Amino acid sequence: MRTNQPRTIYLSEYQVPAFLVDHVDLRFELFEDGARVHSTLTIRRNPEFPDQGEALVLDGDSLVLESVRMNGEAVPENGYQLKGEQLLVPEVPDHFELTVVTWIEPQNNTRLEGLYKSSGMFCTQCEAEGFRCITFFPDRPDVMARFRTRIEADRAAYPVLLSNGNDVDRGELVDGRHFVTWEDPFPKPCYLFALVAGDLVEKRDTFHTCSGRDIDLRIYVESRNAQKCDHAMDSLKRSMRWDEEVYGREYDLDIFMIVAVDDFNMGAMENKGLNIFNSSCVLASPDTATDAAFQRIEAIVAHEYFHNWSGNRVTCRDWFQLSLKEGFTVFRDAEFSADMGSPTVKRIEDATLMRTAQFAEDAGPMAHPVRPASYMEISNFYTLTIYEKGAEVVRMIHTLLGPELFRKGSDLYFERHDGQAVTTDDFVRAMEDASGRDLGQFRRWYEQAGTPVLDVSDEYDADQGVYRLKVQQRIPDTPGQTDKQPQHIPFALGLLGADGADLPLALADGDTDVPASRVLELTEAEHTFEFHGLAERPVPSLLRGFSAPVRVHYPWTRDQLMFLASHDSDGFNRWDAGQRLAVDVIQALEGQADDGEVDARLIDAYRRLLNDATLDQALVAKMLNLPSLAYLIELAKEADVQALHRAREKVLTTLAGTLREDLLACYHRNDDSDDYQLTPEAIARRSLRNTALAWLLRIDDAEACDLARVQFDRASNMTDQMGALRALVNSGFAAERGEVLDGFYQRWQDDPQVVEQWFSVQAASTEAGHLGKIRALLTHPAFEWTNPNKVRSVIGAFAGQNLSEFHQDDASGYRFLAEQVRRLDDLNPQIAARLVAPLTRWRKFAPVYREGMKTALEMIRDKDGLSRDVYEVVHKSLA
Ligand code: ARG
Ligand code: ZN
Repeated sequence: MRTNQPRTIYLSEYQVPAFLVDHVDLRFELFEDGARVHSTLTIRRNPEFPDQGEALVLDGDSLVLESVRMNGEAVPENGYQLKGEQLLVPEVPDHFELTVVTWIEPQNNTRLEGLYKSSGMFCTQCEAEGFRCITFFPDRPDVMARFRTRIEADRAAYPVLLSNGNDVDRGELVDGRHFVTWEDPFPKPCYLFALVAGDLVEKRDTFHTCSGRDIDLRIYVESRNAQKCDHAMDSLKRSMRWDEEVYGREYDLDIFMIVAVDDFNMGAMENKGLNIFNSSCVLASPDTATDAAFQRIEAIVAHEYFHNWSGNRVTCRDWFQLSLKEGFTVFRDAEFSADMGSPTVKRIEDATLMRTAQFAEDAGPMAHPVRPASYMEISNFYTLTIYEKGAEVVRMIHTLLGPELFRKGSDLYFERHDGQAVTTDDFVRAMEDASGRDLGQFRRWYEQAGTPVLDVSDEYDADQGVYRLKVQQRIPDTPGQTDKQPQHIPFALGLLGADGADLPLALADGDTDVPASRVLELTEAEHTFEFHGLAERPVPSLLRGFSAPVRVHYPWTRDQLMFLASHDSDGFNRWDAGQRLAVDVIQALEGQADDGEVDARLIDAYRRLLNDATLDQALVAKMLNLPSLAYLIELAKEADVQALHRAREKVLTTLAGTLREDLLACYHRNDDSDDYQLTPEAIARRSLRNTALAWLLRIDDAEACDLARVQFDRASNMTDQMGALRALVNSGFAAERGEVLDGFYQRWQDDPQVVEQWFSVQAASTEAGHLGKIRALLTHPAFEWTNPNKVRSVIGAFAGQNLSEFHQDDASGYRFLAEQVRRLDDLNPQIAARLVAPLTRWRKFAPVYREGMKTALEMIRDKDGLSRDVYEVVHKSLA
């Protein structure tokens, strides 16, 4: 067992850096057995640092130090110290040049941090603290320097040599080697440094900026992927245009490059001028990628591009401020996606992610504020709270200020802080200064963890025509935080009359010019709002558009929910009412004997949805999805997974059985023989058709089985082929399932992105993903322990999506996960720590699950040499 506990880092201990680095000159000699890195730093003391006699301390990690020189002179071995992983030089002048040579082994780097090899190419990932795995450096985002980078490698194996900025020099060297030198004119923190060396093909295009400059756009991929770049390139151009139009942000370098790599811990990385992407987040063609993948790629390309301003030009002072760039950038990419597709559908997807996964995180042992106060390992804080809740916080500022003042605020933020490393508070201050609004109380959103709960009750006074709405807010305790103060919450609502239309919202008697939807501002623990001039008792439509990341409790009747689901003028709340109705029906069936009846009103609602072609079909496609098992678990006090699963299955199979004819009609009506198009309408058609197919196969309908097989064979795009495959895999037709799975693998075995989908469709399936099958997938020739996508597509999909198989009362699923985490911890701690997540909320489950989850956490805790990443998650979960 690990004896010394990793150190906790506190925001309250922040100090400005003792030294600043103005310039970094790097020379990489890349070889098959390692790489030599020559780094020359131009350093000066920071006049703002209190002690001007401070020693120079540089961060390092897994480096072999070869030599140190100061202003060109060799520093003798007693002139510096290696302390832990850091390099300490006690006596240094106020200005100097330090040259350090280190040796590293990218070919053995399975952590995928710093410089490593992936499918034969060299690449880097430096955020958050990977640069210290390359050379000694003050590895913190508030040290910003200009970088010049020379890369030397064998020309035949590595014809393409890339780094940030512009290529300023290139040439031949002896022994078939060559070099390219890159210079980045913009000072940047080292986490934005990138290097790529490989045998890659280049896909080029040009973007004409608003000020008339031509930007050279390049996507680099392995030659087998040359046909999979078009969508990313189009997405990039749309993002660049959108950022000019909506935020007034123009691109600043002459070249913008994207590189696809197969082994990558996260989705993608916004390195200045040289974005590096997980292959699965950039490569797509209609025959290999689903609609969901196309949309994800568009969003991620946009996200990384938008970071050029929200992240790179203005960066974070320290890693506690991570949401400064991530929350803001997720908000920006969400608005972009809304503009490119269906805004209501995008909002439903984001709210679903928040309510299913972020609320769970915020109620668990790893709960932390959007601006955390402490951490052990920063990699563990690339969370849904930092990204998604952080984006919701920015969205609330947008809602409170309105679009014009918000834009004034963002203009001021970029202008005031260009070239600086700043804090979330600086962001909020810019919004305040530009708008004149006081966001003092609003700042609690950054400081307090936990999901606020709004308890809403109402009364109607028929004599006076007054409707009173009482809203109480409370914020649950989270680790280390109790007795929280009320937050400033924008609460959008409407009131529906008996005819389904919005009633005017008059907050005082005789109000004229009253809107049909309004945003109330909650600032106190309790408010009572009075609406006047109402001749009838309204049905409230609360938190329209998910105007704040909160839980709303209100005692809607099923009839009211039915009514909202078919009449609410707010598309989001129509969907939400349908979900609440379905949740209520499932919860009521939970634990009932098999003869429990499914409320006929739910069946009616689904029948109407399936048959009403006048509705927005994209919204209908979303409304058809039943609440997920993960969401039902999140809503439960003490989740009995198997009971919830059975109740949900009962509702699903009852709906499918009763609505069989309607589903078949829906399937045929949405038969889409046109060319593959990526419009919201075409996506909705494919989604409806595949949902209908999936439901029919859940009741083992023979006609649907035939339809699925034909669709599988004839599909002209991956969405339809995968739709048929998934439906068959999740059916009881075992022979057909085996056949299509084999056929699919035979056809696509050479395409890693498709093989990942093949793994996950099985691992996530209740029918096909029993533990024995999961173990078999781990020994499949296409499975690779060192490839995070493969690990996620089998182990992650099983523990995160196949909940009824993972949560077995004999704890076999938990033990399995613990074994895999222990194995991965030595290879890739970041990935191992993420896989622990499904176990962390053990307290939330019924006793029969709880003990097994806890024991699995203890199994992980007791591993020798546990990484800091896994240590933090496991110990906080058991605390
Ligand atoms: N900044 C990247 C993005 O959101 C994520 C990089 C995360 N890296 C990590 N090692 N946690 O676009
Ligand atoms: Zn990001």
